[in-house]
Amino acid sequence: MTTDPSQPPLDAYIRDHSDPEGDYLYRLYRATNIHTIHGRMASGHLQGRLLKMFVQMARPRNILEVGTFSGYSALCLAEGLKALEAEEPDVERRLYTFEVNDEMEDFTRPWIEGSGLADNISFIIGDANELAPRLGVMFDMAFVDGDKRTYVETYEMVMSLLRPGGYILADNTLWDGHVVDPAYDHDRQTQGIRAFNDHVAADERVEKVILPLRDGLTIIRKK
Ligand SMILES: C[S@@+](CC[C@H](N)C(=O)[O-])C[C@H]1O[C@@H](n2cnc3c(N)ncnc32)[C@H](O)[C@@H]1O
Repeated sequence: MTTDPSQPPLDAYIRDHSDPEGDYLYRLYRATNIHTIHGRMASGHLQGRLLKMFVQMARPRNILEVGTFSGYSALCLAEGLKALEAEEPDVERRLYTFEVNDEMEDFTRPWIEGSGLADNISFIIGDANELAPRLGVMFDMAFVDGDKRTYVETYEMVMSLLRPGGYILADNTLWDGHVVDPAYDHDRQTQGIRAFNDHVAADERVEKVILPLRDGLTIIRKK
């Protein structure tokens, strides 16, 4: 049990009745919050466990992540791939994760290298919208967690590389509730998320559902 008196009781209860994140990810999350200004951007315990579970459910060969940041979500996705590899050692599975901010590389690369999961991860510095289409790889799953202002552009890029039956998980799609708050009508990130949500809602190529987990996580399935 990891009950922390500073957490709202239900949050603590949910965490205590879900799988633990493990010592390495716990330390990474703490280090992220100590060494980066926006440490809150990292996925964290609950969403991380969901990402791993989701990989084990969907059994992708190749996953694309837009927005590595400190590597927390990347390691959770790769944990899922590793678990699948133990069941099917002959199937190669890989996460391609992109981070546009080259200042994160010195922090993030050692955490990836030290995780025991590096064999399944390609960590690429650069803009995913520009570089992912050049890989020559098709994907079965994508985690979209980059610049909120360009979510629609990223979505269309990912759709062009996603196999039918593949899944997109898009993070922060409720944006702290700002999507329904008129006070944020002129905020560019809120505008980007609203445009994305409207775009996906109207897109008949996909099925979709928004989970109100954390900051909103949309699960999208390409038909
Ligand atoms: C919310 S953080 C990612 C958090 C991480 N996925 C996690 O859950 O632990 C968003 C990151 O996306 C990066 N980013 C934004 N747009 C991007 C793009 N087009 N390609 C690659 N990285 C991008 C930002 O620099 C930032 O570090």
